[in-house]
Amino acid sequence: MTYPSIGLHRVSKTFFRPNSPTTQASGCQALRSVSFQILPGERVALLGASGSGKSTLIRLLCGLEAPDTNQGEILIEGVPLFRAGCRASRSAFGHARAATGVIFQQFNLVGQLSVLENVLVGQCASLPIWRAIGRNFSRDARAIALDCLEKVGLADKADQRASTLSGGQQQRVAVARALAKGSRIILADEPVASLDPASSRRVMKILCDLAAQFGITLLVSLHQTEVAKQFCSRVIALRQGELVLDSLTTELSETVLRNLYGVNAEELLTTSSGGFDVVDSEVLSVA
Ligand SMILES: Nc1ncnc2c1ncn2[C@@H]1O[C@H](COP(=O)(O)OP(=O)(O)OP(=O)(O)O)[C@@H](O)[C@H]1O
Ligand SMILES: [Mg+2]
Repeated sequence: MTYPSIGLHRVSKTFFRPNSPTTQASGCQALRSVSFQILPGERVALLGASGSGKSTLIRLLCGLEAPDTNQGEILIEGVPLFRAGCRASRSAFGHARAATGVIFQQFNLVGQLSVLENVLVGQCASLPIWRAIGRNFSRDARAIALDCLEKVGLADKADQRASTLSGGQQQRVAVARALAKGSRIILADEPVASLDPASSRRVMKILCDLAAQFGITLLVSLHQTEVAKQFCSRVIALRQGELVLDSLTTELSETVLRNLYGVNAEELLTTSSGGFDVVDSEVLSVA
Protein backbone atom coordinates (compact mmCIF):
# COMPACT_ATOMS: atom_id res chain seq x y z
CA MET A 1 0.00 0.00 0.00
CA THR A 2 1.32 3.46 -0.90
CA TYR A 3 0.81 6.13 1.73
CA PRO A 4 0.68 9.85 1.06
CA SER A 5 4.11 11.44 1.54
CA ILE A 6 2.53 14.08 3.77
CA GLY A 7 -0.77 13.89 5.59
CA LEU A 8 -2.22 16.60 7.81
CA HIS A 9 -5.52 16.21 9.58
CA ARG A 10 -7.01 19.19 11.45
CA VAL A 11 -3.65 20.64 12.49
CA SER A 12 -3.54 23.93 14.39
CA LYS A 13 -0.67 25.93 15.82
CA THR A 14 -0.94 28.76 18.32
CA PHE A 15 2.02 30.82 19.52
CA PHE A 16 1.76 32.23 23.02
CA ARG A 17 3.67 35.16 24.41
CA PRO A 18 5.89 34.25 27.35
CA ASN A 19 4.07 34.47 30.70
CA SER A 20 0.66 34.96 29.08
CA PRO A 21 -2.24 32.58 29.69
CA THR A 22 -2.34 29.75 27.16
CA THR A 23 -5.86 30.41 25.94
CA GLN A 24 -6.52 30.75 22.22
CA ALA A 25 -7.66 34.35 22.72
CA SER A 26 -4.25 35.38 24.09
CA GLY A 27 -2.16 33.67 21.41
CA CYS A 28 -1.43 34.10 17.73
CA GLN A 29 -3.11 31.34 15.78
CA ALA A 30 -0.64 30.69 12.97
CA LEU A 31 -2.48 27.61 11.62
CA ARG A 32 -6.18 26.81 11.98
CA SER A 33 -7.34 23.24 11.53
CA VAL A 34 -5.39 22.60 8.32
CA SER A 35 -5.95 19.31 6.49
CA PHE A 36 -4.48 18.03 3.23
CA GLN A 37 -2.54 15.14 1.73
CA ILE A 38 0.35 15.18 -0.72
CA LEU A 39 1.00 12.05 -2.75
CA PRO A 40 4.45 10.68 -3.61
CA GLY A 41 6.07 12.58 -6.47
CA GLU A 42 3.71 15.57 -6.35
CA ARG A 43 5.20 19.07 -6.70
CA VAL A 44 3.13 21.43 -4.61
CA ALA A 45 3.47 25.18 -4.12
CA LEU A 46 2.53 26.56 -0.71
CA LEU A 47 1.32 30.06 -1.41
CA GLY A 48 0.25 32.82 0.92
CA ALA A 49 0.82 36.44 1.85
CA SER A 50 3.33 37.30 4.55
CA GLY A 51 2.24 35.95 7.95
CA SER A 52 -0.20 33.42 6.49
CA GLY A 53 1.55 30.46 8.17
CA LYS A 54 3.77 28.95 5.44
CA SER A 55 6.97 28.74 7.50
CA THR A 56 5.05 27.49 10.52
CA LEU A 57 3.58 24.66 8.44
CA ILE A 58 7.00 23.67 7.10
CA ARG A 59 8.53 23.82 10.59
CA LEU A 60 5.79 21.49 11.86
CA LEU A 61 6.40 19.04 9.03
CA CYS A 62 10.08 18.77 9.84
CA GLY A 63 9.48 18.55 13.58
CA LEU A 64 10.95 21.95 14.51
CA GLU A 65 7.63 23.01 16.06
CA ALA A 66 4.86 20.99 17.68
CA PRO A 67 1.20 21.57 16.80
CA ASP A 68 -1.50 22.44 19.35
CA THR A 69 -2.25 19.60 21.68
CA ASN A 70 -6.02 19.35 21.55
CA GLN A 71 -6.41 17.73 18.14
CA GLY A 72 -4.84 16.89 14.83
CA GLU A 73 -2.36 14.56 13.28
CA ILE A 74 0.70 14.86 11.03
CA LEU A 75 1.83 11.78 9.14
CA ILE A 76 4.96 11.36 7.07
CA GLU A 77 4.69 8.41 4.68
CA GLY A 78 1.87 7.06 6.83
CA VAL A 79 3.91 7.21 10.05
CA PRO A 80 2.60 9.63 12.68
CA LEU A 81 4.97 12.47 13.49
CA PHE A 82 2.51 14.17 15.86
CA ARG A 83 -0.81 12.93 17.17
CA ALA A 84 -2.99 15.35 19.19
CA GLY A 85 0.09 17.57 19.55
CA CYS A 86 2.24 14.84 21.06
CA ARG A 87 5.45 13.88 19.38
CA ALA A 88 5.35 10.33 18.12
CA SER A 89 7.79 7.65 19.20
CA ARG A 90 11.51 8.16 18.71
CA SER A 91 11.55 5.74 15.78
CA ALA A 92 8.64 7.52 14.05
CA PHE A 93 10.39 10.83 14.51
CA GLY A 94 13.60 9.30 13.15
CA HIS A 95 11.66 7.97 10.15
CA ALA A 96 10.34 11.46 9.36
CA ARG A 97 13.75 13.08 9.72
CA ALA A 98 15.36 10.49 7.46
CA ALA A 99 12.66 10.83 4.81
CA THR A 100 12.65 14.61 4.75
CA GLY A 101 15.16 17.19 3.54
CA VAL A 102 14.63 20.86 4.27
CA ILE A 103 15.84 23.87 2.33
CA PHE A 104 15.50 27.28 3.95
CA GLN A 105 15.57 30.76 2.47
CA GLN A 106 18.84 31.57 4.21
CA PHE A 107 20.83 28.65 2.76
CA ASN A 108 21.80 27.26 6.22
CA LEU A 109 25.27 26.19 5.14
CA VAL A 110 28.31 26.24 7.40
CA GLY A 111 30.37 28.94 5.75
CA GLN A 112 33.70 27.73 7.16
CA LEU A 113 33.28 24.25 5.70
CA SER A 114 33.91 23.25 2.12
CA VAL A 115 31.02 22.77 -0.26
CA LEU A 116 31.59 19.00 -0.20
CA GLU A 117 31.62 18.88 3.62
CA ASN A 118 28.34 20.79 3.72
CA VAL A 119 26.76 18.14 1.53
CA LEU A 120 28.31 15.34 3.60
CA VAL A 121 27.03 16.57 6.97
CA GLY A 122 23.53 16.43 5.54
CA GLN A 123 23.89 12.65 5.40
CA CYS A 124 24.06 12.50 9.21
CA ALA A 125 20.41 13.31 9.83
CA SER A 126 20.46 11.74 13.27
CA LEU A 127 23.51 13.68 14.54
CA PRO A 128 23.77 17.25 15.75
CA ILE A 129 25.78 19.26 13.23
CA TRP A 130 28.75 19.73 15.61
CA ARG A 131 29.18 15.95 15.78
CA ALA A 132 28.76 15.48 12.07
CA ILE A 133 31.44 18.05 11.25
CA GLY A 134 34.40 16.12 12.68
CA ARG A 135 33.46 12.78 11.13
CA ASN A 136 35.52 10.80 8.70
CA PHE A 137 33.17 10.10 5.85
CA SER A 138 33.46 6.91 3.86
CA ARG A 139 34.57 6.88 0.27
CA ASP A 140 31.01 5.91 -0.73
CA ALA A 141 29.52 8.89 1.11
CA ARG A 142 31.99 11.21 -0.61
CA ALA A 143 31.16 9.70 -4.00
CA ILE A 144 27.42 10.26 -3.41
CA ALA A 145 28.03 13.84 -2.27
CA LEU A 146 30.19 14.59 -5.31
CA ASP A 147 27.61 13.02 -7.61
CA CYS A 148 24.91 15.27 -6.12
CA LEU A 149 27.12 18.33 -6.53
CA GLU A 150 27.59 17.28 -10.15
CA LYS A 151 23.80 17.16 -10.54
CA VAL A 152 23.43 20.76 -9.39
CA GLY A 153 26.36 21.84 -11.57
CA LEU A 154 28.80 22.54 -8.73
CA ALA A 155 31.27 19.63 -8.74
CA ASP A 156 34.09 22.05 -9.58
CA LYS A 157 33.41 23.99 -6.36
CA ALA A 158 33.57 20.94 -4.05
CA ASP A 159 36.69 22.08 -2.21
CA GLN A 160 35.79 25.74 -2.01
CA ARG A 161 34.55 27.28 1.25
CA ALA A 162 30.76 27.57 1.20
CA SER A 163 30.95 31.23 2.31
CA THR A 164 32.69 32.14 -0.95
CA LEU A 165 29.77 31.04 -3.14
CA SER A 166 27.04 33.29 -4.51
CA GLY A 167 23.53 33.05 -3.04
CA GLY A 168 22.25 30.98 -5.95
CA GLN A 169 25.21 28.62 -5.73
CA GLN A 170 24.73 28.22 -1.97
CA GLN A 171 21.11 27.33 -2.54
CA ARG A 172 22.16 24.73 -5.12
CA VAL A 173 24.47 23.23 -2.45
CA ALA A 174 21.43 23.05 -0.17
CA VAL A 175 19.59 21.15 -2.93
CA ALA A 176 22.57 18.78 -3.31
CA ARG A 177 22.59 18.21 0.46
CA ALA A 178 18.91 17.27 0.51
CA LEU A 179 19.50 14.95 -2.43
CA ALA A 180 22.61 13.30 -0.95
CA LYS A 181 20.70 12.62 2.24
CA GLY A 182 18.40 10.41 0.18
CA SER A 183 15.36 12.56 0.98
CA ARG A 184 12.12 11.24 -0.44
CA ILE A 185 10.37 14.45 0.53
CA ILE A 186 11.86 17.93 0.17
CA LEU A 187 10.36 20.86 2.06
CA ALA A 188 11.62 24.19 0.81
CA ASP A 189 10.73 27.41 2.64
CA GLU A 190 10.99 30.33 0.20
CA PRO A 191 14.14 28.86 -1.36
CA VAL A 192 14.43 31.61 -3.95
CA ALA A 193 13.25 34.64 -2.00
CA SER A 194 16.78 35.99 -1.48
CA LEU A 195 17.89 35.44 -5.06
CA ASP A 196 17.88 37.52 -8.22
CA PRO A 197 15.47 36.37 -10.97
CA ALA A 198 18.06 34.47 -13.02
CA SER A 199 19.41 32.58 -9.98
CA SER A 200 15.86 31.94 -8.76
CA ARG A 201 14.93 30.40 -12.07
CA ARG A 202 18.02 28.26 -12.11
CA VAL A 203 17.55 26.97 -8.54
CA MET A 204 13.85 26.22 -9.07
CA LYS A 205 14.54 24.45 -12.35
CA ILE A 206 17.25 22.27 -10.81
CA LEU A 207 15.13 21.49 -7.75
CA CYS A 208 12.07 20.54 -9.81
CA ASP A 209 13.99 18.59 -12.46
CA LEU A 210 15.74 16.54 -9.80
CA ALA A 211 12.49 15.99 -7.91
CA ALA A 212 10.88 14.72 -11.12
CA GLN A 213 13.88 12.56 -12.01
CA PHE A 214 14.03 10.85 -8.61
CA GLY A 215 10.31 10.83 -7.80
CA ILE A 216 10.84 13.15 -4.83
CA THR A 217 7.78 14.82 -3.29
CA LEU A 218 8.23 18.58 -3.18
CA LEU A 219 6.44 21.13 -1.02
CA VAL A 220 7.82 24.58 -1.70
CA SER A 221 6.60 27.76 -0.06
CA LEU A 222 6.59 30.76 -2.36
CA HIS A 223 5.45 34.34 -2.50
CA GLN A 224 5.35 34.53 -6.27
CA THR A 225 2.39 33.08 -8.13
CA GLU A 226 4.27 33.07 -11.45
CA VAL A 227 6.95 30.78 -9.97
CA ALA A 228 4.30 28.47 -8.54
CA LYS A 229 2.58 28.24 -11.93
CA GLN A 230 5.77 27.58 -13.82
CA PHE A 231 7.24 24.89 -11.60
CA CYS A 232 4.45 23.22 -9.63
CA SER A 233 1.33 21.37 -10.70
CA ARG A 234 -0.69 21.91 -7.53
CA VAL A 235 -1.10 24.84 -5.17
CA ILE A 236 -2.14 24.98 -1.55
CA ALA A 237 -2.88 28.51 -0.36
CA LEU A 238 -3.06 29.77 3.21
CA ARG A 239 -4.70 32.92 4.50
CA GLN A 240 -4.25 33.85 8.16
CA GLY A 241 -3.51 30.24 9.00
CA GLU A 242 -6.45 28.77 7.11
CA LEU A 243 -6.26 26.62 4.01
CA VAL A 244 -8.28 28.59 1.49
CA LEU A 245 -7.36 26.92 -1.79
CA ASP A 246 -6.18 23.49 -2.92
CA SER A 247 -6.17 23.27 -6.72
CA LEU A 248 -4.15 22.84 -9.88
CA THR A 249 -1.81 25.75 -10.52
CA THR A 250 -3.40 26.09 -13.96
CA GLU A 251 -6.50 27.32 -12.14
CA LEU A 252 -4.59 30.13 -10.42
CA SER A 253 -5.51 33.49 -11.84
CA GLU A 254 -5.37 37.10 -10.79
CA THR A 255 -9.12 37.02 -10.14
CA VAL A 256 -8.85 33.97 -7.90
CA LEU A 257 -6.04 35.59 -5.91
CA ARG A 258 -7.83 38.93 -5.59
CA ASN A 259 -10.95 37.14 -4.36
CA LEU A 260 -8.91 35.27 -1.77
CA TYR A 261 -6.54 37.97 -0.56
CA GLY A 262 -8.05 41.33 -1.54
CA VAL A 263 -5.36 44.03 -1.44
CA ASN A 264 -2.81 41.52 -0.09
CA ALA A 265 -2.95 39.74 -3.47
CA GLU A 266 -0.48 42.37 -4.77
CA GLU A 267 2.49 40.74 -3.04
CA LEU A 268 1.67 37.41 -4.70
CA LEU A 269 1.13 38.91 -8.13
CA THR A 270 4.28 41.01 -8.30
CA THR A 271 6.38 39.69 -11.15
CA SER A 272 10.12 39.55 -10.65
CA SER A 273 12.02 41.68 -13.15
CA GLY A 274 13.51 39.37 -15.72
CA GLY A 275 10.53 37.03 -15.47
CA PHE A 276 10.49 33.27 -15.45
CA ASP A 277 9.35 32.69 -18.97
CA VAL A 278 12.71 32.66 -20.74
CA VAL A 279 14.22 29.21 -21.22
CA ASP A 280 17.77 29.27 -19.96
CA SER A 281 20.00 26.97 -22.03
CA GLU A 282 22.57 26.81 -19.24
CA VAL A 283 19.89 25.62 -16.83
CA LEU A 284 18.72 22.93 -19.21
CA SER A 285 22.22 21.55 -19.56
CA VAL A 286 22.42 20.83 -15.83
CA ALA A 287 21.17 17.58 -14.30
N1 LIG B 1 7.95 31.76 17.12
C1 LIG B 1 6.87 32.53 16.98
N2 LIG B 1 6.33 33.18 18.05
C2 LIG B 1 5.21 33.94 17.92
N3 LIG B 1 4.54 34.11 16.75
C3 LIG B 1 5.03 33.50 15.68
C4 LIG B 1 6.21 32.68 15.72
N4 LIG B 1 6.45 32.19 14.47
C5 LIG B 1 5.46 32.69 13.70
N5 LIG B 1 4.63 33.46 14.40
C6 LIG B 1 3.43 34.15 13.90
O1 LIG B 1 2.66 33.18 13.18
C7 LIG B 1 2.10 33.76 12.00
C8 LIG B 1 2.55 32.99 10.79
O2 LIG B 1 3.94 33.18 10.62
P1 LIG B 1 4.79 32.45 9.48
O3 LIG B 1 6.21 32.81 9.71
O4 LIG B 1 4.43 31.03 9.45
O5 LIG B 1 4.21 33.17 8.18
P2 LIG B 1 4.74 33.08 6.67
O6 LIG B 1 3.57 32.77 5.82
O7 LIG B 1 5.91 32.18 6.60
O8 LIG B 1 5.18 34.60 6.39
P3 LIG B 1 6.37 35.15 5.44
O9 LIG B 1 5.85 35.06 4.03
O10 LIG B 1 6.52 36.57 5.88
O11 LIG B 1 7.59 34.33 5.69
C9 LIG B 1 2.55 35.22 11.99
O12 LIG B 1 1.53 36.03 12.53
C10 LIG B 1 3.77 35.23 12.91
O13 LIG B 1 3.96 36.47 13.52
MG1 LIG C 1 7.91 32.41 6.08
